[in-house]
Amino acid sequence: MNWIDIGAIDDIPLRGARVVKTRHGCVAVFRTAEAEVFATSDRCPHKGGPLSDGIVHGRKVTCPLHNWVFSLETGQAQGADEGQIETFAAKVEDGRILLDAARLMARSAA
Ligand code: FES
Repeated sequence: MNWIDIGAIDDIPLRGARVVKTRHGCVAVFRTAEAEVFATSDRCPHKGGPLSDGIVHGRKVTCPLHNWVFSLETGQAQGADEGQIETFAAKVEDGRILLDAARLMARSAA
C-alpha cells in the first residue's frame, strides 16, 4: 500500500474528527475514545449530512442531521436504517495518521 501522512493523531481530539479533502471528495478521519483511527466518506447516504460533525461512540458515528448510526469499521448503517458509507484503510505510526493513498486515488473510478 501507498500510505500518505495526513497529520498528527494529537491534532484530533478524542471522539473527534477532521476532514481531509481529496480530489474525489471529503474523507472524514475519526479518532475514537480508545485512540483508534478510522477513515470514511464524510457524506451520509441518507441526505448528505457531514459525518465528521457527528458523535463518535465506540466504533460508531451518529450522523448530526437525523441520527443514523454507522459502523466506522464496516461502514454499514446500524439498526433499522439501511445504507453504507465508504471506508478507507487508516493507521497510526509514530503518532502520525496514515491513509491508503491508492484507495483514495481509485475512488473516482468506482
Ligand atoms: S443526513 Fe445523515 S441521517 Fe439524515
